[in-house]
Amino acid sequence: MIVRIANLLDARTRVLMREKLAAADWEDGRRTAGGEAVRVKHNEQLTEMHPVAIELGQMVLTALSQSSEFTSAALPLKVFPPLFNRYAGGGHFGAHIDTAVRLTRQAPYRVRTDLSATLFLAEPDEYDGGELVIEDTYGEHAIKLAAGDLLLYPATSLHEVRPVTRGARLASFFWVQSMVRDDDNRRLLYEMDRALMQLRDLHPQGHPALVRLTGAYHNLLRKWSDL
Ligand code: NI
Repeated sequence: MIVRIANLLDARTRVLMREKLAAADWEDGRRTAGGEAVRVKHNEQLTEMHPVAIELGQMVLTALSQSSEFTSAALPLKVFPPLFNRYAGGGHFGAHIDTAVRLTRQAPYRVRTDLSATLFLAEPDEYDGGELVIEDTYGEHAIKLAAGDLLLYPATSLHEVRPVTRGARLASFFWVQSMVRDDDNRRLLYEMDRALMQLRDLHPQGHPALVRLTGAYHNLLRKWSDL
């Protein structure tokens, strides 16, 4: 399931992040690429322990914790401390699948990557190219979102970032270990949760069927979640 969460960051936070990222010292992304990725990764990033990455990463985590859409779609158990990258001057990241388990020196130290996340920090008209291309059973999806929008996709997907031929593409990226490991089960819960929200809007006074359906949602979550 590929999900877009619009406006995860408000305008003020985006401006603040852009200022801090513009002043930061970036390093070659290949330094942190493991195995196969060294060959295909051509970008710049902030090291994991860079003070700007830690400060802005905390802002991303706060925005995630306040987003009911993110909670509903990802059912997060652990979130990898957000990292930041920049693609310019032809920078790209060839087709790859993300590593299954990511280690970090900060809490939560070890994350199984169920979902991959890209938080776009530059507006689409600031750069050419730089589409995130994700392959699923329906084919390829080339995605480029507005600054502040978050994209969630299964970490099992083959994906790439196309070359940036003008301007610079700035993003934060991270992974989520979900309480519900299976993507199909997680999608069913997400669909059900969204339908329940619509029904609650239609029945502000409540309804006995809503009580049972909400209970069924929680009973499925109980059945399928690992903590
Ligand atoms: Ni990737």
